[in-house]
Amino acid sequence: MRKFLIAGNWKMNGTRDSAVQLADEIVRGLEPSEQLEILVCPPFIFLLEVARRLKNSRLLLGAQDICADDNGAYTGEVSGSMLREAECRYVIVGHSERRSLYAENDSLVARKFIAAQNAGLIPILCVGETLEQRQNGQTHAVVLGQLNAVLEVAGLQAFGHAVMAYEPVWAIGTGKNATPEQAQEVHASIRASLGSRDAKIASRIRLLYGGSVKAANAAELLKMPDIDGGLVGGASLEAKEFLAICKAAG
Ligand code: PGA
Repeated sequence: MRKFLIAGNWKMNGTRDSAVQLADEIVRGLEPSEQLEILVCPPFIFLLEVARRLKNSRLLLGAQDICADDNGAYTGEVSGSMLREAECRYVIVGHSERRSLYAENDSLVARKFIAAQNAGLIPILCVGETLEQRQNGQTHAVVLGQLNAVLEVAGLQAFGHAVMAYEPVWAIGTGKNATPEQAQEVHASIRASLGSRDAKIASRIRLLYGGSVKAANAAELLKMPDIDGGLVGGASLEAKEFLAICKAAG
């Protein structure tokens, strides 16, 4: 049985006070559900402070990025072992903003995926096509290409301890979500691709949908058979909205 996972990606938003307040409000509002894991991913600088607030709660902590190397002369970077020390369980890798704004290519994303697992973190591997790629009929090729790039380096078994997020680039932060059918179609193709290699891994892996998820559209997206949760950006910055999304999953 797959557990739903709702992950809040706070991106580069907020202040120390607002981060603490948001974490507190989410913790207070959570209803217990065995079927659901909930995670917030604050900016690095707020991780320790937020971790303190989450102690003894069921809200989990994740990071938005990770260095592909574990220690040494990598100015400005944060390693997996450091994230573990900050109580992180998950880390997002290959988010489209990292790929497009910071030139992260498939091979770097694959190295980050491996670095996360080596540090004992569960990577949330993001894949997704641009609007142009969708209009050119390349959606499946792009998404499966991004998956294959990591599979080739990390190996199939690594996907037994990973999460994937399908995030169409045209839906991120635009207010324009993929329809449940569009998302389902891509999720099914990711699962089928993994399933052609290993049925057990394919049936167990959690495939999240991300891209303008909000309380108003969460239920219809989350009821699709291959959507196992959401990666939520903007709507995770408001406790009430985020909790409503969690409720839709639980
Ligand atoms: P959004 O962001 O919910 O604001 O579209 C999603 C994401 O980037 O993970």
